[in-house]
Amino acid sequence: MMKTSLTGIKPTHIPHVGNYLGAIRPALRLSETYRTAYFIADYHALTTVRDPAALRGHVHDVAATWLACGLDPDKTLFYRQSDVPEVFELSWVLACITATGQLERGVAYKDAIAKGEAPNAGVFYYPVLMAADILLFDTDVVPIGADQRQHVELARDMAARVNHLFGEGTLVLPEPLITEAPLVPGTDGTKMSKSKGNTIPLFESGKKLRKLCLSIVTGSETLEEPKKAEGTPLFEIYRQLATADESAALEAKLAAGNFGWGHAKEALYEVIERDFAPMRERFTALRADPAGLDAVLARGADQARGIARATLDRLRARTGIR
Ligand code: TRP
Repeated sequence: MMKTSLTGIKPTHIPHVGNYLGAIRPALRLSETYRTAYFIADYHALTTVRDPAALRGHVHDVAATWLACGLDPDKTLFYRQSDVPEVFELSWVLACITATGQLERGVAYKDAIAKGEAPNAGVFYYPVLMAADILLFDTDVVPIGADQRQHVELARDMAARVNHLFGEGTLVLPEPLITEAPLVPGTDGTKMSKSKGNTIPLFESGKKLRKLCLSIVTGSETLEEPKKAEGTPLFEIYRQLATADESAALEAKLAAGNFGWGHAKEALYEVIERDFAPMRERFTALRADPAGLDAVLARGADQARGIARATLDRLRARTGIR
């Protein structure tokens, strides 16, 4: 039987090029070899987002982005977490078999405490809800960035504990699948991330996109000097979008001299403009029809709830809840 790959996308911002290369593209490729379930984790976003219109908007941004990038809802189960309230029932059972100490060791919670913040209980409980997302669907692998590894390991521990207490085979043990692309730098040369304000939004185009590309940090060699492409933020992004031949050509031009960083930035701009053009058009059309997006997600949720119900029936019987 095909293994199941499931992941959640937190709708807190419009996806950027780093999200595409590090998460979206690899997750979509998995749909060729796995049974896939991808969902929008809107209840996870609620630990931080306080603006209802923004949250709804980001759910539609994320849905339109994944569909525009090639997610086929007939092949991949695609739904909104809040449309599957069964997640909360499982999360309670998991909370009851988890030691508070394990959650106290959660990275996000620990960081917040270390910074002297007063995190809400949702931040503390976050890994339990995430484990429920995963375990409800008999997930084998969870494609995620390295920062989420601990969460998946915790979900695995919880599944093992449930099986130990209530019978082997009650829940499937998931494994993390770290998908992060080598490293996608942002315009300032450090990892592209929303919180650093160094991102290139996925469906930006024209003047704005060009300006962002021109703002990428580079060396200060003169036009004539030969330049080393390898390891520079500009080339690291370029390489992940362009073909191997194009990358080799750009590298050679830089190495030959008489080719400035400005020229290389233009080359990056062109490749982004070109690569994302068809997706950008699809995105614009999809995003203009929020009701259509909701309908796609609702169909996914219907199917998801069927699977969720089966897992809960199994669990309810074994825990003595009837
Ligand atoms: N915590 C994940 C993130 O911030 C989002 C998420 C929620 C998730 N539930 C999940 C990821 C279940 C994988 C599986 O990116």
